[in-house]
Amino acid sequence: MNSKEVNMPETTMITCTAPVNIAVIKYWGKRDEELILPINSSLSVTLHQDQLKTTTTVACSRKFHEDRIWLNGKEEYINQPRLQSCLREIRRLARKRRSEEDSSSKSLLSHRIHICSVNNFPTAAGLASSAAGYACLVYSLARLFGVEAELSVVARQGSGSACRSMYGGFVQWKMGERQDGIDSVAEQVAPESHWPELRVLVLVLIYIVCFQVSAERKPVGSTSGMQTSVKTSELLKHRADSVVPARMEEMISAIQRKDFRTFAELTMKDSNQFHATCLDTCPPIFYLNDISRKVISLVHRYNQYYKETRVAYTFDAGPNAVIYTLQDHVPEFVQAVQHFFPPESNGGQFVKGDDVAAAPLSEELIQAIGIEPVPKGISYIISTKVGPGPCMVEDSDLHLLGPDGLPKKSP
Ligand code: DP6
Repeated sequence: MNSKEVNMPETTMITCTAPVNIAVIKYWGKRDEELILPINSSLSVTLHQDQLKTTTTVACSRKFHEDRIWLNGKEEYINQPRLQSCLREIRRLARKRRSEEDSSSKSLLSHRIHICSVNNFPTAAGLASSAAGYACLVYSLARLFGVEAELSVVARQGSGSACRSMYGGFVQWKMGERQDGIDSVAEQVAPESHWPELRVLVLVLIYIVCFQVSAERKPVGSTSGMQTSVKTSELLKHRADSVVPARMEEMISAIQRKDFRTFAELTMKDSNQFHATCLDTCPPIFYLNDISRKVISLVHRYNQYYKETRVAYTFDAGPNAVIYTLQDHVPEFVQAVQHFFPPESNGGQFVKGDDVAAAPLSEELIQAIGIEPVPKGISYIISTKVGPGPCMVEDSDLHLLGPDGLPKKSP
């Protein structure tokens, strides 16, 4: 051991948080599986971390014998290719940056890493946790090693949609053209403060329905789903080549002008076209269920009643609906959801997250919507808004790893 190492702290530790994002122009299909390069650009809204976030602690120490990772309380296999891509890339960038610097920071790089990550929302909520997870991992590692490069390129190699969680507000992922992927990056279109009236409601559906109907049917994950779509769907090719480029421009302009109607209509069309490409895939992929389709009807009938687009839906690779609306319409729309999907009387809190005021629901509106209520179809709603990108947690009491580098026992 040389004198420099004796003076070094035993363990260096950093904790960060990162957000979930929900695409309004969907990414579906890769042109390079390993580098995760998409066949079209996409655009998303970063959700507020008060409701949905991943927290990750990364530590490195010369006492550690191997790299290890714990996810939501369980140790996981560290040698997964995508995890390894992110670790390798960050170490490469750190080495590049540190090559001129002193040996103590170099030796930090030679140490093994421990990673511990938790979500503040249940996996059962069916929200893509991999985006927040990889964004948080890459951001934390970059902080640990002092890397300041364009980090969305690294997060993208963990999970495509993760690159958009590297920024707050409204974020586009430019597909890029190069084979090495260095121009396939995320970029902020507008910050989280840009459109303060915009609100997001995540409708978490009851899953029992689809599992009871077809217990043997395992849901198709986005990675393998998009591979099959690229191979078999002509509609997907048409979408990527001829629809998305113009739609990206229209969407960016709608966001910049805070034009809710255009934003909402493009969001719904894009979600529907994405699910149409899933149906055009062979064998077809079904992500929406009967309750998802009832939510779609509810939104269209609600808008029709007001002769104005007040609410929009979007669905990812699962049946949960994400609703975009403006703050003035939240109380009544939540009331409408509660009316048509009446929750269990003792089923706990129906609306979680940001407070929603009570609102009356007119008999005329109920009649005009006129769909058959589905009791317990929706388990709960998460009420949230647009939020910031990844942040570092300053309070060292909040580290998820103890001084021994192992996960702290939950109290
Ligand atoms: C439907 O980013 O999860 O949510 O790159 O294979 O990890 P991989 O896929 P992933 O796909 C997300 C698909 C989507 C649309 C979107 O978020 O744009």
